[in-house]
Order: sequence, then C-alpha cells, then structure tokens
Amino acid sequence: MYIGVLGTGDVGRTLAAGLATRGHQVMIGTRDPTVARVQEWCQQAGHGAQAGTFAAAAGFGEALVLAVGWPHVDQVIALAQPTNFAAKTVLDTTNPLLAETPGQSPVLAVGHTDSAGEHIQRALPEARVVKAFNIVGHAHMVDPSFPDGRPDMFICGDDADAKTVASLLIEALGWPPAIDLGGIQMARYLEPMAMVWITHLYRNGFNGNHAFKLLRK
Ligand SMILES: NC(=O)c1ccc[n+]([C@@H]2O[C@H](COP(=O)([O-])OP(=O)(O)OC[C@H]3O[C@@H](n4cnc5c(N)ncnc54)[C@H](OP(=O)(O)O)[C@@H]3O)[C@@H](O)[C@H]2O)c1
Repeated sequence: MYIGVLGTGDVGRTLAAGLATRGHQVMIGTRDPTVARVQEWCQQAGHGAQAGTFAAAAGFGEALVLAVGWPHVDQVIALAQPTNFAAKTVLDTTNPLLAETPGQSPVLAVGHTDSAGEHIQRALPEARVVKAFNIVGHAHMVDPSFPDGRPDMFICGDDADAKTVASLLIEALGWPPAIDLGGIQMARYLEPMAMVWITHLYRNGFNGNHAFKLLRK
C-alpha cells in the first residue's frame, strides 16, 4: 500500500520506518524534504522510504498517518492540502497537548465535549479519520513486546472500512487486533487515556516502558 506519513517527529519516523519494513511504499511528509536530517532518515529507514513535502506525501498515500504536535495540526493540514485527504483512511496519532511547562506533566487543550480526533475529522470532512497509536509511546509503536505479553491498541472512527484498514496496518506492526471503541467521538476518551500513559511516564523516571492491556475472562 502507498502510505503518506505526515510528520518527521518520533512518531512519524517510527511508524514510517515500521510500515516500510512491512513492504509498504512510504513517503514521510515535512516542510523541507531536502534537509539533512530527513535525508539521513530515508537512508536509515531503507526499503525505498522517501521524503516529500506535506502535500507530496498526502497526495502519495492511499492511506495517511497524521503525526504532528497539536499546535501545528491545522497548519500541516493546510500545507498538505485538504483535497489530498478525500476518501482516504487517516490514522490520527495526535494528542491535543498544551505546551509543556518544564517538569510538569502536560494537560489537554480540549476534552469532555470535543477532541483532536473530532477536530481533525471536521477539518477533513471527506477523509475517514481513525484515532490510533495515541495511547502508547513511540518506542513501543512497532513490535511492542512486554514480559506480560503484547499490549492492546484502541481505535475509534466513523468509517468501518477505514477502521478495517487501520486494524490491518496496526496488526502488521505487531499488535493484536485493534479494539474498536466506536465513532470518532470516542477520541474524547482515548486522548485522556494518553494522559494516563503520560502521567505514569512523568512519575516513573521517563523510561516509557509501559502500555495498556485489556484483560478479559
Ligand atoms: N512522541 C510520542 O511518543 C507520542 C506518542 C503518542 C502520541 N503522540 C502524539 O503524536 C503526535 C506527533 O508527535 P511527535 O512527537 O512525533 O511529533 P512532533 O515532534 O511534535 O512534530 C513533528 C512534526 O511537526 C512539524 N512542525 C513543527 N513545527 C511546525 C510548524 N510551525 N508548522 C508546521 N509543522 C510544524 C514538523 O515539521 P518538519 O518535518 O517540517 O520539521 C514535524 O514534521 C503529537 O500530536 C503527539 O502528541 C506522541
């Protein structure tokens, strides 16, 4: 599958490299694909991974991953050109975090009655937005492995077909079948769930070696 990953931060680089190793054609999107750190990433990722502008990557992908900080989401969507998202599955990894105060755990900028997932779906009404990967640190987004087994990935979105695509990509990256919480409005719960992960990070030495598992009987 052709996949455009919008964002060259830890999340974008991790997911793009992981998807490339699974045989997908990947283009990572950035403001300037010629800068050295982006070109070096392409070399390291291998498997034909390319870099392009946000618009080029959004046009390239049959499915897209949105992986930029909350303050830049609207700007990146504009740079990527909303028409490039039409009818495509868009994995939304974002958490709407306010700027961090040094030493203090960040807080959500929106919640209870709205979410980043809903904001992005409203900004891209023709896209099929699926919240995914927002509840785990980037270091465990590909082939997550813990002594107690594999963690679970929770997703939500309004389009059933898009959630099928998202689940296939999530499983290809080494996760169990994703747990579907329902429509994109459920991002109101998945984004605070990320705050539980982040709070534990701040209280436990910033090692990030934790993830969520739904136990059943
Ligand atoms: N880090 C994690 O472990 C983790 C885990 C779960 C969810 N998340 C969420 O995933 C998202 C991505 O996180 P991240 O840490 O990988 O990303 P990040 O480092 O915050 O964002 C990197 C991207 O933001 C773009 N950017 C920065 N300033 C910009 C500006 N002024 N205008 C347009 N674009 C700008 C950069 O563009 P250039 O490429 O041009 O520099 C880059 O592609 C966030 O919403 C975060 O909350 C993060």
